[in-house]
Amino acid sequence: MKNRVYIKDLNQNIGQEIIIAGWVNVRRDQGKMVFMDMRDMTGIVQCVVLPNSEAINIAKEFRSEWVLKIKGKVNARPEKNIKQGVLNGDIELEVLSIEVLNKAETTPFLISESTSNVNEDVRMKYKYLDLRTERMQNNLRMRDKVVTFFRDYMHENDFLDIETPIMTKGTPEGSREYLVPSRMELGNFYVLPQSPQQFKQLAMVAGFEKYFQIAKCMRDEDTRGDRQPEFTQLDYEMSFITQEEIISYTEDMFIKMVQKVYPDKKIQEIPFPRITYKESMEKYGNDKPDLRNDKNDLNLLAFCWVVDFPMFEKDSEGGLQAVHHPFTSPKDEDAHLLNTDPLSARANAYDLVLNGFELGGGSIRIHQRELQNKIFELLGLTKELIEARFGHMLTAFEYGAPPHGGCAHGIDRVVMILQNEPNIREVIAFPKTGEGKDLMMGAPSEASEKQLKELGIKFSK
Ligand code: AMO
Repeated sequence: MKNRVYIKDLNQNIGQEIIIAGWVNVRRDQGKMVFMDMRDMTGIVQCVVLPNSEAINIAKEFRSEWVLKIKGKVNARPEKNIKQGVLNGDIELEVLSIEVLNKAETTPFLISESTSNVNEDVRMKYKYLDLRTERMQNNLRMRDKVVTFFRDYMHENDFLDIETPIMTKGTPEGSREYLVPSRMELGNFYVLPQSPQQFKQLAMVAGFEKYFQIAKCMRDEDTRGDRQPEFTQLDYEMSFITQEEIISYTEDMFIKMVQKVYPDKKIQEIPFPRITYKESMEKYGNDKPDLRNDKNDLNLLAFCWVVDFPMFEKDSEGGLQAVHHPFTSPKDEDAHLLNTDPLSARANAYDLVLNGFELGGGSIRIHQRELQNKIFELLGLTKELIEARFGHMLTAFEYGAPPHGGCAHGIDRVVMILQNEPNIREVIAFPKTGEGKDLMMGAPSEASEKQLKELGIKFSK
């Protein structure tokens, strides 16, 4: 739009005639005059339509959320009307003419107020309206700043952003997997990744040495406040690296991110305290302790590392399952326990915890075929299953796989905590409900007869 000025820049145009475009935030009729707040992506400004303006009649029809293009003159407010500390508190736009770009129905909730107390199903159904509110706009803009910081930081440290497939084969991270039926190979399925774990390790075998990705992960698990069926990880992996180096790189990155993006927040303790899994379970009864001195201080961040996780735990059938994932290496001094008492063997695995939430976790991986094979065997996999599910990893380890390790953090959780939001749905643009539904799109939804037939799918009641 020619000569359009963003609302945040209006105060650089005092005395000028300019054009703004945006939405009616609120309108107030004051007898002969009409006042309205106009909103664009950069902020809000008060506009006044004077009784003698050619726009006065049309202005009386406006409702909230109409889309307008306004030609107006930027006036400084008289001293007594200045609102300190508010964007455009010192100016006002005198409306000269108005073009209505689109009308709007009455919205199901007010856009000019926080929707935190509005029924969440309604917010989900009209997500594009919910996202118009100041709180949601702010959450997503801050999320972008956090992600941008991480991306830049990774690049400054010579990490390479490598995209890995979404249609792939299962990688065990402890959840149920989403399946995508193959049309070309009836009866076979792609699996949506629970994480890029195997690909990032294979990127190390491929010689990249430093990989990262802002990665979408899919897990078919019961949704909770800090869980979604699809979520985003800051995922990274390094070769020729020790646990100590990964921890210290990660810690520096989080400290610098907070200093840059959230300068008002304070980190309770630097370096981040470390606690072993055993101590944490004994002292706090869980493996993600909330170490804040003052839980009412919204600006306090208590990071800590939980280290020395066990390699295995018992599954529901009495067998062994990996506590982190099966690619995690045992501590050198505990390796002999794999033969005698695997449940007592500790892993080179670590979690980053913040204010009682698990932000991320990682491990030093196995890079030798024999050891990897042994772990699969301990997990109860037959030779055939090992070959079918993980043969490619075992083969890759035979071609000069370097020692490597890494970490992944839940971006949604990081932003939720920094934005003081009660759940991750508030910091995800288009989240799903507790039942895994997208109420706006209406997903999941039925497939057509034709699609099902092509995929060879028949349902039994
Ligand atoms: P892990 O399974 O611990 O590790 O996941 C890492 C982090 O991802 C976040 N997260 C989730 N966030 C929202 N919704 C979910 N359903 C969800 N599940 C996990 C958490 C968690 O700490 N490949 C390994 C990492 C590695 O070893 O490098 C992995 O995925 O914040």
